[in-house]
Amino acid sequence: MKAVILAAGKATRLRPVTLTMPKALVPVANKTLIGYAFDVLKAAGFHEIGIVVNDLDSPIPQTLGDGTALGIKLEYILQEEQKGLAHAVGLCRSFVGDEPFCVFLGDNVFQDKMTPLFQNFINTGVEAAIALGEVSDPTRFGIAELNADGSIHRVVEKPKEPKSNLAISGVYLFRKSIFDAISRIKPSWRNELEITDAIQRLVDDGNRVDTYTLKGWWIDAGKPEAIVLANQLVLEELPYTPAPENTDQIIGKSEVSHRVILGANSQIIDSVVRGPVIIGDNTIIRNSYIGPYTALGDNVVIEGSEVEASIIMKNCVLRNIPVRIDSSLLADGAQVVAASRKPAAHRFVLAENSYVQL
Ligand code: G1P
Repeated sequence: MKAVILAAGKATRLRPVTLTMPKALVPVANKTLIGYAFDVLKAAGFHEIGIVVNDLDSPIPQTLGDGTALGIKLEYILQEEQKGLAHAVGLCRSFVGDEPFCVFLGDNVFQDKMTPLFQNFINTGVEAAIALGEVSDPTRFGIAELNADGSIHRVVEKPKEPKSNLAISGVYLFRKSIFDAISRIKPSWRNELEITDAIQRLVDDGNRVDTYTLKGWWIDAGKPEAIVLANQLVLEELPYTPAPENTDQIIGKSEVSHRVILGANSQIIDSVVRGPVIIGDNTIIRNSYIGPYTALGDNVVIEGSEVEASIIMKNCVLRNIPVRIDSSLLADGAQVVAASRKPAAHRFVLAENSYVQL
């Protein structure tokens, strides 16, 4: 069975980070978002994966290539215009052929590996199956109403008056019947071909669509705060590792706790690091505090500052910041430094949709 990951969205809610970096490559606990999709799919036995992208020459194919380094076979499918998830799935017709396949939304991160969802779909021969997660804000999702046997009775995209709190969570198993269903739906109020409407079409045609309710957490990582939360939840699951004591890397009056993953050539100098924390390669932490749920990328410099529950991507610099930095997302090469001369004012060079809270 093949799988397709949908990663062609413009990710406007994550700007400015996504002005230069596709959402799929945003690091969560120092692994790309799409890397979490690969983990679930590989565990379920998928090794041939198509990725729907909005540019065949974008950083996604440039970074992931043909997948050899990841132990999978990758192909890329172009969606030039973002006309909805069902449109994206429709473009995968020749990639998947006549075989059953999995559709995975590339910005969703799951605690659950969903093994029963995949196994039941293969064993039962049901027409389609989807994963559902309980949510507190059902108006933001595709929402499912179930029959007594757990199959789908009705699905509605972003209902104004939701009949349940079970959201369609971004993992779908289909057979080739979905392509015919997609060909018979019309654009929604948001002018998109909704995969939810295509699933409703399958149900209206008398097909059984099974469901699987997710165990544990699930994050639709579309906004900065959701990315930061996903980072926290993933780091929370780091297994116990003893405090690193390597004197080449832990230097001076430093205190480093257990559950701190320290990359090659990184140094912690006269600083306190309290896990769970992950630190990339060639990163320098000097006279600083790094608190729980922080991920620092490669070549980061943190001096005279405090950071907690944040994602600081590669090549960032934080220097002499008087207040703790918390729940923040800094993309590659961002710098936050205290003024080194008078007037000691705040000075900003911000990209579109940047956000600063002082
Ligand atoms: C999409 C789907 C929706 C689903 C959600 C999960 O919504 O249309 O049915 O519940 O993903 O992340 P969108 O992210 O396009 O608003």
